[in-house]
Amino acid sequence: MAAQENAINTSTPASDLSPALRAFAAHADEALARALPPVEQPPARLHQAMHYAVTGGGKRMRPLLVYATGTAFGASLARLDAAAVAVEIIHAYSLVHDDLPAMDDDALRRGRPTCHIAFGEAMAILAGDALQALAFEILTDAGLNGIDAATRLEMLRVLAGACGSHGMAGGQAFDLSAVGQRLSVEELERMHVHKTGALIRASVRLGALAAGCTDAGTLDALERYAHCAGLAFQIRDDILDIEGNPAQIGKTPGKDAAQSKPTYPAIIGLQASTRHLAELTAQALQSIAPLGESARDLRDLARFIAERES
Ligand code: IPE
Ligand code: IPE
Ligand code: MG
Ligand code: MG
Ligand code: MG
Repeated sequence: MAAQENAINTSTPASDLSPALRAFAAHADEALARALPPVEQPPARLHQAMHYAVTGGGKRMRPLLVYATGTAFGASLARLDAAAVAVEIIHAYSLVHDDLPAMDDDALRRGRPTCHIAFGEAMAILAGDALQALAFEILTDAGLNGIDAATRLEMLRVLAGACGSHGMAGGQAFDLSAVGQRLSVEELERMHVHKTGALIRASVRLGALAAGCTDAGTLDALERYAHCAGLAFQIRDDILDIEGNPAQIGKTPGKDAAQSKPTYPAIIGLQASTRHLAELTAQALQSIAPLGESARDLRDLARFIAERES
C-alpha cells in the first residue's frame, strides 16, 4: 500500500508535464513577458502583434529544454533565461510565418486566430521580422548573467545556424517544395530535422553552453538526445494533425492531408509512425543515460514529447 501511494504521489502521466517542468514553463512565461517591448510603446500595433505571437498558451518546449539541460549542470534559471527566451522568440516568429497564407495558410493557433488573421498579413510579417531581431539582441546583452563574451558569441552562432537556410528556414523551404510530392523517408527525415529539429537541438546546446558544459562526450550525448527528440517532436505533431483533439491541439486538424503535406503518417502510415516515435524516444533516453539522475527533467521531456496531446 505504501509503495502504491508513493507511486501515485511521485509519478506524472507522460502526457502531462511534471511539476518541475511546469515550474520551468511558468518561469519562462515571466522571463518572456520581461523581454518583450511594452505594448503601449510606438509602434504599438507592431508590439501588440509581437506579444500576441509569443503569448497565448504555447507549451514552452524549447525553454524547457534549455532549463532542463542547463540545470542538469548546476546552472541557475536566471543564468539560462536569455537562451530560453531567445529560442522561444525565434520559435514564435517561425509559427507566425508558418501560418501565413503564402505558407500553411492557417487561421487557428493555440486556440485563437493566427497572428495575420488578428493583425493583418503585413503586420504579422513585420512581427516575425522584429521577433527574430529581438532574439539576437537578447543574446548579445552584455550583462547576461555572468556568461563570458566568447560563450555569448558561440551562443549567437548556434542560434543563427539553427534559424537559417541550414536550419529552420531551410527546413521550411524543403517543406514548401515538397507539397504534393512523394518524398523518400530519408528526404522526409531531412525536412523534419531541419524545420523543427534545428531549434530543438539549438535549445539543448544553448542550455549546455550557458551552463558552462564543455565536456565533448557530454555534448555529444546531448546532441544525440536532441536529434532524436527533435525528430520525435515533429512526428508527434504530424500524428496529432490526424488524431489530435481539436480543442487540445488548438489548431485546425487535418490540414496536412488537406494540403498534401509530406508527413510521417502520409509516407509510412500511422502505425509505423507511432513505432518510429517510440524508437526515437528510446534512443533519446539511452543517449543521456550516462548523465544519471541529473538528466531527470530531460528524460521527462522526452517522454512528454512522445505522448503529448497538445
Ligand atoms: C508547433 O510547435 C510547430 C512545430 C514545430 C511542430 P509547438 O507544438 O511547440 O507549438 P507551441 O509553442 O506549443 O504552440
Ligand atoms: C512547423 O511545422 C515547423 C515550423 C518551423 C514552424 P508545421 O507546419 O507542421 O507546424 P504546425 O502544425 O503548423 O504547428
Ligand atoms: Mg508548416
Ligand atoms: Mg503549419
Ligand atoms: Mg503540423
